[in-house]
Amino acid sequence: MTATDPTTQSNYTRIHTEHLELHWTLDWERTRILGSATHHLKASEDGVKEVILDTSFLDIEKVEIGGESVQFTLGDRHPVMGQALTIPLSTLTKGQEVKVTIQYATTGECTALQWLDKQQTAGKSHGYLFSQCQPIYARSIAPLQDSPSVKITYNACVKSVLPVVMSAIRVSPPSSTRHAGKTFGADEVEYTFKQPTPIAPYLLAIASGNIAFKPFVVPSGVNWTSGVWTEPEMMDSSFWEFSEDTPKFVAEAEKILIPYHWGVYDILVLPPSFPYGGMENACLTFLTPTLLSGDRALVDVIAHELTHSYFGNGITQKDATAFWLNEGWTTYFERVLQQVLHGPLARDFSYIIGSKALVDSLRAYESRPKYQRLVIDFEYGEDPDDAYSSIPYEKGANFLLYLERQLGGLDVFLKYAQDYVKTFVGKSIGTETWKTHLYSYFRANGGEEKVAVLDSVNWDAWLYGEGLKLPVEMEYDTTLATQAFELAARWDASRRENVHHLNFKESDIAGWNTNQLIVFLEKLGSIAPLPATHVHALTDIYHFNETKNAEVGLRWFELALISPAATDFAQSAAAWVVDPNSLKGRMKFCRPVFRCIFKVDPRLATKTFEENKTAFHPIARKLIAKDLNVAEVKGA
Ligand code: BES
Ligand code: ZN
Repeated sequence: MTATDPTTQSNYTRIHTEHLELHWTLDWERTRILGSATHHLKASEDGVKEVILDTSFLDIEKVEIGGESVQFTLGDRHPVMGQALTIPLSTLTKGQEVKVTIQYATTGECTALQWLDKQQTAGKSHGYLFSQCQPIYARSIAPLQDSPSVKITYNACVKSVLPVVMSAIRVSPPSSTRHAGKTFGADEVEYTFKQPTPIAPYLLAIASGNIAFKPFVVPSGVNWTSGVWTEPEMMDSSFWEFSEDTPKFVAEAEKILIPYHWGVYDILVLPPSFPYGGMENACLTFLTPTLLSGDRALVDVIAHELTHSYFGNGITQKDATAFWLNEGWTTYFERVLQQVLHGPLARDFSYIIGSKALVDSLRAYESRPKYQRLVIDFEYGEDPDDAYSSIPYEKGANFLLYLERQLGGLDVFLKYAQDYVKTFVGKSIGTETWKTHLYSYFRANGGEEKVAVLDSVNWDAWLYGEGLKLPVEMEYDTTLATQAFELAARWDASRRENVHHLNFKESDIAGWNTNQLIVFLEKLGSIAPLPATHVHALTDIYHFNETKNAEVGLRWFELALISPAATDFAQSAAAWVVDPNSLKGRMKFCRPVFRCIFKVDPRLATKTFEENKTAFHPIARKLIAKDLNVAEVKGA
């Protein structure tokens, strides 16, 4: 027996959507999506009498089958899963199909959507809308079976006075035309899309605003196109940052695995309230503008999101318990791409940066050790966002790296990875299925010797282990981190010296890229805090307090706010997070910094959040509020 998805109320095992048709109008005046969703459903067994869909804060107007209105019921709201929409059907036999149309509108409480004012965009001239559906918010943009076990194709027709993009292939008008020749921002244009490859519902996505497109040059002979969408104000910097590497990542990935099968790999650089670094929406990766560091140091996020085309979007976690199959595999393979393009030292450097994030996350869950596991058994209705951390990414990637090293190295393991993709692309699977295939692959390709290696793996510790350490201590080549480690060691050694006699200068870090600065600051954060005088000297010399680079800013404030000089920097940390010209809406930045401020000055943290919360995406708003409340209870 296979357990069902713990985060959906739908009856997807009995009847499931195969195809979805969306007809939407973006109502910019009332900031809502208005329209219909038509499900092409198929019964998986005999005697199905109803279909149950997930919804969250949707206004359901009517439900129709074959042009006839039917009586539906909307259940009580579950705090995490929302309201079940039950639609009666005439009794179906296995394999029988039926089409159901729901007319509805979104509301101001739909967690997936953020409607931005002009002021919250780069151009400050038009509004902006974007969605974020992973993990369980697709149900707030359309009634559907919101489980990654259900894979659907979709078509969409969206009317808007501003250009629209979706996680699909654009049918019309062409990407290169600017609003089909109509009056921009005033006349409605109909944008049509098709997604012919079945996707999990969490990959449904839409954005609309003053956005333009610029294509990348792709290698000749490939079967896909690639380019960047963004506001005109960010086009040049986005193109510079990503045009070089993006097509290379796709080309390398398809060489190692299987041909890229989604037709299009576009990226969309969003306004700063986008709550993640990147989101692998099908055909269209969404990205935070904080990746525009001007040194191409953060392109690994694109390697990551592109890799999801295989692990996540291709082979999909069957439910939240298998989240690590999406993120652990993707992190592992993202770093393989780094190695292919930038050499083995670059791969190890990423593991070094990741190990700090892993330890931080494991520590943060010390009071909830269940979330320290790689495979988390969620209770029915438990919020997967509560478990979101670096653990599935880093523990997962290290587990695969460990298996790679045990089983004969990178070449051997990549052949296996290719077989894994070929076997399961298009399907949704769990950890057991992955493990069974791993054994059968190595039994067939290496025999009893490899099986013995697999038998020696401490499966229980890797999959279900808790605590602050990996089951096996992992070693990485530290060459690329050497300079940063050495400078940190000099600061460490200087702690007893008079601050006026310190021998540091701005040129210590001249020419360093973002990742070296990160490693330097993180190293300083891992040793005994420097005296307050030295922390001031650190930023007087290197200007961390004024950095434009959010990755550097995060590490600086994390360091400063645990130092003896913490109170001196709380105010500037708060100003940094809610800076109206560059909001740190990405949760990787705002959540830890809000938590750090809270520890130093709880009133400042709550006040800053209360005064600025509408600037944040609803998901970030929800999680920051939780973080601050939890800390309040603890600190009381
Ligand atoms: N799919 C995730 C983002 C996500 C996960 C959103 C779970 C909602 C729920 C995406 O691929 C991701 O992992 N983004 C990372 C970047 C990456 C380089 C680690 C991020 O946003 O930091
Ligand atoms: Zn990811």
